[in-house]
Amino acid sequence: MMEKTGSKRGVFSGHLGYILATAGSAVGLGNIWRFPYLAAKYGGGIFLLTYLVLALFFGYTLMVSETAIGRMTGKSPVGAFRALSMARRTADLTAKGSAKATAKATAKATAKGSKNGWQAGGWINAIIPMLILPYYSVIGGWVAKYLFEYILGHVSEAAEDGYFTSFISSPLGAWGWFMIFALMTVLVIALGVENGVERVSRIMMPGLVVLAVVMAVYSMTRPGAAAGIRYFLVPDLSHFSWMTVVAALGQMFYSLSIAMGILITYGSYMKKDVNIENSVHHVIFFDSGIAILSGLMIIPAVFAFSGGKPDALAQGPSLMFVTMPKIFESMSGGRFVGILFFVLVLFAALTSAISLAETCASTFEDELKWSRKKATTVVALIVAVLGSLSSLGFGPLFGVTPLGMSILDFFDFLTNSLMMPVAAFVICIFAVYVVGVRKISEEVHLSSRFRFEGMYRICLKYIAPFFVMVILLSSIANVLGIITI
Ligand code: TRP
Repeated sequence: MMEKTGSKRGVFSGHLGYILATAGSAVGLGNIWRFPYLAAKYGGGIFLLTYLVLALFFGYTLMVSETAIGRMTGKSPVGAFRALSMARRTADLTAKGSAKATAKATAKATAKGSKNGWQAGGWINAIIPMLILPYYSVIGGWVAKYLFEYILGHVSEAAEDGYFTSFISSPLGAWGWFMIFALMTVLVIALGVENGVERVSRIMMPGLVVLAVVMAVYSMTRPGAAAGIRYFLVPDLSHFSWMTVVAALGQMFYSLSIAMGILITYGSYMKKDVNIENSVHHVIFFDSGIAILSGLMIIPAVFAFSGGKPDALAQGPSLMFVTMPKIFESMSGGRFVGILFFVLVLFAALTSAISLAETCASTFEDELKWSRKKATTVVALIVAVLGSLSSLGFGPLFGVTPLGMSILDFFDFLTNSLMMPVAAFVICIFAVYVVGVRKISEEVHLSSRFRFEGMYRICLKYIAPFFVMVILLSSIANVLGIITI
């Protein structure tokens, strides 16, 4: 997938290489676990519609910008922000013209702060994965635990009401499984075998798609499931609330791995002749496809097995772990299907976790000049501390509820609803005022036409930054209790 070239930086082998890597990072627990529970909670069809519109306009705009910035500079986020802001400053200072113009440019550059000002923009992108990885590993641990239970053949136990809750609230159980998952991730990185894992997951991924199709068909044909299909696919305005938009935007960032530096890094590995626009579209279609498939697997089953009552739909993070076991219990051979399902999900989770950990470690290596070993150790420590908090938040730390949420939900909210909108806003402003839309468009034109350039410009300059800010402010106001959305 990645070839080492003469220069130090690896490059993707082409269009397919880029898409596979980006889709590999995009498809993970976000699609299978997070998307269905949000869709169930925030309005079904209307959530799906909102999500797709956001992905096609905002997701597309941000992905093209990040990828182009990465490819232009050949650097990961902090370095890319630094290089481009310095280039801009030099251009300002040497701009031909009167002394007055030069003085003005200097003042402008000074007003922008030292080079560290924009570097901070790179850092906020780089910090987000460090906050996501710990709680991602907690969910990865849940997946590993369920896999283990199906291997032992505990099919009906896993489907019992209350099973999931008692598992996550048992102090040692859930924490132990979190540590197992986190150790697997760190081990893969420490041993440098992530390429091996990625190669295996390239076989697993199609397997997951096939199994998800089978499961979705099974789930959709259960008695009572039709209402669920309707709920998920047919937009109903009466289910719409402002939270639908807030949740859909957060999910879009999360699922497409936007606003966290990943795409800048991947763009830096991309060859100059790969069509940026097409690649971005392919990733969006693929990622959304898997999310929809997971929705069709889980939401009709909620209606078939739990009647689709509001509290069944609003379960949140536990939805997949409560619903899927009920499906497996109802089918013959449920034990083996369960094993297969959780193995495949575990792989999707593991590859995403590895890629998250890689990004964190390489930021430390590149920017703080740490050794690989030190970087990996620090990442492992961050994961151990923050992940333990998230995991124990359902047990011994039950009473600790920052902003009224469980600790895991708090980290999820902090990254997806607060930090990512800020990071996305910074990227828009950076792309427009520092890099310049013209330079981005030149970068896209290096390999192809830029079919949606008009839409891209309008979205980047006007709609995206404004909208992202409105969302951010409204979710802050909501949390502070100033408004209720
Ligand atoms: N997009 C991934 C998912 O849907 C999660 C994720 C977020 C991720 N940021 C990432 C994966 C960075 C790899 C790298 O599950």
